[in-house]
Amino acid sequence: MAKQYRVGVVGCGRIASLLEEDPLREKPATHAGAYAAYPRTIITAACDIDRWRLAKFRDKWRVPSDRCYRDYREMLSREEIDILSIATWTESHCEIALAAAENPHIKGIYLEKPISANLKEAGRIIAACKKRGIKLLVGHERRFDSNFSRVKEIVETKEMGALKTIFAQALSLPPPKLARKKYIGGTLLHDGTHLLDLVLYFGGPAAWVMGFDKRPCGKGNIETAAGGIIVLQSGVTVFVEGGGERNYFKFDLDLQFENGRIVIGNGGIHAFRNFTSRHYTGFHELAPAPFKNPHKRENSFTGCVRELVRAIENGRDPVSSGVEARNALELILAIYQSADDGGKKVYFRRRVK
Ligand SMILES: NC(=O)c1ccc[n+]([C@@H]2O[C@H](COP(=O)([O-])OP(=O)(O)OC[C@H]3O[C@@H](n4cnc5c(N)ncnc54)[C@H](O)[C@@H]3O)[C@@H](O)[C@H]2O)c1
Repeated sequence: MAKQYRVGVVGCGRIASLLEEDPLREKPATHAGAYAAYPRTIITAACDIDRWRLAKFRDKWRVPSDRCYRDYREMLSREEIDILSIATWTESHCEIALAAAENPHIKGIYLEKPISANLKEAGRIIAACKKRGIKLLVGHERRFDSNFSRVKEIVETKEMGALKTIFAQALSLPPPKLARKKYIGGTLLHDGTHLLDLVLYFGGPAAWVMGFDKRPCGKGNIETAAGGIIVLQSGVTVFVEGGGERNYFKFDLDLQFENGRIVIGNGGIHAFRNFTSRHYTGFHELAPAPFKNPHKRENSFTGCVRELVRAIENGRDPVSSGVEARNALELILAIYQSADDGGKKVYFRRRVK
């Protein structure tokens, strides 16, 4: 019988478990939901500094009380865990991942995005996991959505011609308290990490970036909007924006090819193709066209768990690896840096693999 992997979860909040209660979301919508849905994993231990959240998690996922902890170090020292989920606030990702990398039992880590808020910590997490042969998957789960994979295929096969331009937006209103709090990143870091990860997934590594930001509470405070122009090494131009003070959440990428266009994001997927114009003689224009996806759909959270198990078993780095997450972070931080420098270009000299 195939091995069943024992899972420990640190951080029993929204992405670990609570979002499962949202009636509108596709399920599973969380780490715990994905482990429960995937027969080769079983949640054996949990940890949260918050007593109420821990108790809620224990009851929902039937974790024995004596295997629920308030201190992740105690959990790691007492439990034999194969896979650790780190679903805590971003500032604690590095500390917990480094402690996990010291643990003799852990084979895989499912770390929530962003990998960290700084490159030094991201590098330490990646190096520690590499040294111990631990497979590290970061929760950019859209990479496991077959519609996004199909778009990647369209880019690679040039079915719509060469990819030329990407408009990428993660628009929302930051919670008011954050606007006055000293904090490194706002929407561009927290939701934009998905966006920039997908930009790199579709278009390849960046050549340079020019950024802007709006920080009404002054430098060093969270932005209400940030973004920029990125030119990728492939020549693709990217316009990116995060935040933007909207009363709605908009997350999408508008990919424009020589012969068509695809808009993919939280509003679904819409394709357009090149047709002879019905308005201007001798011109061509884009018109809606069906988006065909022959690939089987898999839930993206289950996809993350399946991929991590696959990486543990075949020894290769998973899709959505620590290095890929680090590259998205590097791009976000370069936007902030450029904005801080009055829009000066930041060049990427090396290709990070
Ligand atoms: N992949 C996604 O789409 C997605 C969506 C939401 C959040 N996230 C990411 O997940 C992480 C958590 O976000 P959230 O919205 O679930 O937050 P949350 O506040 O709902 O949950 C975090 C939980 O971690 C616990 N915690 C914090 N520090 C801890 C520690 N040292 N030890 C044990 N428990 C600790 C908190 O008590 C809380 O219950 C963030 O990095 C966030 O960016 C990802």
